[in-house]
Amino acid sequence: MEAVLAQIEAFKAEISSFTANDAAGVEAFRIRFLGTKGIVKQVMGEMKQVPVEQKKAFGQILNEFKAFAEARYEALQSASQQHATDESLLDYSLPGDAFPVGARHPLSLVRNQIVSIFQRLGFALAEGPEIEDDWHNFGAMNLPEDHPARDMQDTFYVSQNPSWLLRTHTSSVQARIMESQQPPIRVICPGRVYRNETISARAHCFFHQVEGLYIDEHVSFADLKQTLYYFVQEMFGKDTKVRFRPSYFPFTEPSAEMDISCLICGGDGCTVCKHSGWVEILGSGMVHPKVLENFGIDSNKYTGFAFGMGVERICQLKYRVNDLRLYSQNDVRFLSQFKGAL
Ligand code: DAH
Repeated sequence: MEAVLAQIEAFKAEISSFTANDAAGVEAFRIRFLGTKGIVKQVMGEMKQVPVEQKKAFGQILNEFKAFAEARYEALQSASQQHATDESLLDYSLPGDAFPVGARHPLSLVRNQIVSIFQRLGFALAEGPEIEDDWHNFGAMNLPEDHPARDMQDTFYVSQNPSWLLRTHTSSVQARIMESQQPPIRVICPGRVYRNETISARAHCFFHQVEGLYIDEHVSFADLKQTLYYFVQEMFGKDTKVRFRPSYFPFTEPSAEMDISCLICGGDGCTVCKHSGWVEILGSGMVHPKVLENFGIDSNKYTGFAFGMGVERICQLKYRVNDLRLYSQNDVRFLSQFKGAL
């Protein structure tokens, strides 16, 4: 009995000196003293040991102890609430907590820049589906079934229905536009494309392109060159050099690929430009008369030019990204470097 009374006195001392600055501290007090396995319950359990004639007196002591603990609990509670709302304790001069802000994906940044340059020239934004049929991706673009140029782009077919495929280039959007619009046509079409390639630093099974199409009366190769020249100057700066090389695409005739002077080494030669000083950034050409006729556009009256460029390649040159896989790994250490970029 004496031992229990001494224990109660010790607990009272602990209760009196218990401090709590916040709700968590108050809760810790409640659990220690008033919880279902708390000290008050434990001490109450001692009642069983007490001889009958002393039970009444001991019961009184226990009730007082319980009330003592409860009173302290309430006091701590109201003190902590007051603490939380006491304006005089707030220091408004402390710096605020920074909260994390996202950044645009580098490919979105570059795509938006490309699109906005062409919008300034009067091109309208257009998009098409990523799942296409053979006609829009190949046939209409002058790539009939046995055309060897189909091998240039390894295609993913939809297994349930092999007449569907994942578009291999945004040139399919050209077909969609010509099918639904009559000239004059002036569109810029960004989008994702897919090719059956082994993933490495230099190749990926999906990437992004921007397609351009301009059809009207009297559109010439000079218009094509001047438009793309303007684009390069806006995108990469006035000092960037440009060269056109004759090339082949089934949907354009004549066709040309465009190189710019390497932005990484300034033309001196590096691994990105394979020591040539030049980097290819797009394919282009005058829309093949057959493509126009596929959509009932009179190729004697109308001419047009088209071009297609890879967004990843331009991003690589602008931001020096050296591995294509970085674009889709979603590593915050990579992505957060583009905070504040235009
Ligand atoms: N579709 C071509 C490719 O993916 C790029 C291209 C070349 C698009 C010439 C065009 C063009 O519109 O005229 O490699």
